[in-house]
Amino acid sequence: MASSSRILVADDEPNLRRVLSAILTREGYEVWQASDGAEALERLDTTVDVIITDLKMPRFDGMRVLQTVSKEYPEVPVIMITAFGSVDNAVAAVKAGAFDYIEKPFEQEQIRQIVEKAIKQATANRSEPSLTLTPNGDISPSTGRHGLIGRSDVMQSIFGIIEKVANTPSTVLVTGESGTGKELVAKALHENSDRSDEPFIKINCAAIPKNLMESELFGYEKGAFTGATGSKPGRFELADKGTLFLDEIGEIPVEMQVKLLRAIQESEFERVGGIKTLKVDVRLIAATNRDLEKAVASGEFREDLFYRLNVVPLMIPPLRLRQGDTPLLVDHIIEKFRHRLNIEIEGIDDDAMEVLSAHSWPGNIRELENILERTILFCSDTRIRRADLPDELCVATSSVTEAGQPSGSETGVGGSLPTKATANGEAVSLKDAVRAETSRVEKELIAHALGETAGNVTQAAKLLKISRKSLQMKMKDFGLRDRVRDDESGN
Ligand SMILES: Nc1ncnc2c1ncn2[C@@H]1O[C@H](COP(=O)(O)OP(=O)(O)OP(=O)(O)O)[C@@H](O)[C@H]1O
Ligand SMILES: [Mg+2]
Repeated sequence: MASSSRILVADDEPNLRRVLSAILTREGYEVWQASDGAEALERLDTTVDVIITDLKMPRFDGMRVLQTVSKEYPEVPVIMITAFGSVDNAVAAVKAGAFDYIEKPFEQEQIRQIVEKAIKQATANRSEPSLTLTPNGDISPSTGRHGLIGRSDVMQSIFGIIEKVANTPSTVLVTGESGTGKELVAKALHENSDRSDEPFIKINCAAIPKNLMESELFGYEKGAFTGATGSKPGRFELADKGTLFLDEIGEIPVEMQVKLLRAIQESEFERVGGIKTLKVDVRLIAATNRDLEKAVASGEFREDLFYRLNVVPLMIPPLRLRQGDTPLLVDHIIEKFRHRLNIEIEGIDDDAMEVLSAHSWPGNIRELENILERTILFCSDTRIRRADLPDELCVATSSVTEAGQPSGSETGVGGSLPTKATANGEAVSLKDAVRAETSRVEKELIAHALGETAGNVTQAAKLLKISRKSLQMKMKDFGLRDRVRDDESGN
């Protein structure tokens, strides 16, 4: 590709520097070289688009380069080069904000692709005004954006993140319990990107038999297996120039994880039974209701694949932690069914709405929709009354309140957390903004859960559906250990 983008290469091995330089110059980039981190930072200015730095260098290493760049030039993607076998360090670097990493020895093609992606990212970071958070916020109005309903603080944050990352090539990992709206979020990301005129292709990894997974993802050639009487493109090919949504990614068989990783890393693959290597330009969004970090820990999910997918984590909280959204959702769903079922229904009585709002909805919005559909179908009048609701809803009504609402203020929980990533209106990088928002949402949910359970860590962990241990770690990170009940704090 022709380009005059400028790339700064920092490496203490002159040979490697020369090789990289040669590859990149051939690709049409302008290359600046530095023999270590200090020299790289000296040369760095606003005209540099991407930095490639060795992680291990004497004097001033890649991590220090990354730290300085993240602070002073947050829009510049940093690609780390790591020695073979030290992926741990590289993963730490990506966690600390590096754009990506390349393991030595690398292929020319790998470099070419990662750099191309990084340049795209740098361009997006620089040219997209909505990629910055301002004090007035580009955060969307209360409801209705992207077909997603929600006025709770957490949903507002999520809308903000969607707007910031939609039009970037970054991979998004959407997590949340079943029925929380993960697929809707994936579609919103696609619709709000400049790929919206291109295909949005979904593959449900849980629904496809193991032995068909590869041909579904990558396609097959005639004669590849018994019954393959013709050739067929896979979902990656179908999604070219558009978005590929890998739903229920937690269910993908381990054998397929390696193949998927390669396709993601190199944007290329072969059809089953094919010899031609195919290249595609696909934006990936993955979703799961599983705790992938746990799956990584237990060896069921490859760590490298996890980090490839988890570039922008988007956690959709369960409905019980954002009860303030329920009335809006109920109105929206009634409206939807009024049209779909062609039934005359005007609305819902206040006391019936209260029952719906107080319910904990383990199946989240999908369950709410199902119950409302049934209720509307059997409703005796043009309004939904309390008596029309299923009995089990009317018995035990828990009193969970919305995350981030001042209700917890008597215990000092939940009300007064900062609501903006930056208070002073300075532009922050996309990654930082997303990270800050995600952390804020997470902290709010944890504080809220601790408030609800009066500081009982075990119960709070249950409510949040995470392990007690990871809750404790997160509480430590967020400085929430003072929220723990006395008899809990010892362990
Ligand atoms: N914020 C929202 N606003 C309006 N409708 C929503 C919202 N979130 C979810 N829904 C609706 O709830 C239903 C479930 O959403 P979706 O299929 O996206 O959830 P999911 O998390 O993918 O669920 P599952 O884990 O079961 O696949 C859909 O009909 C969707 O339109
Ligand atoms: Mg789904």
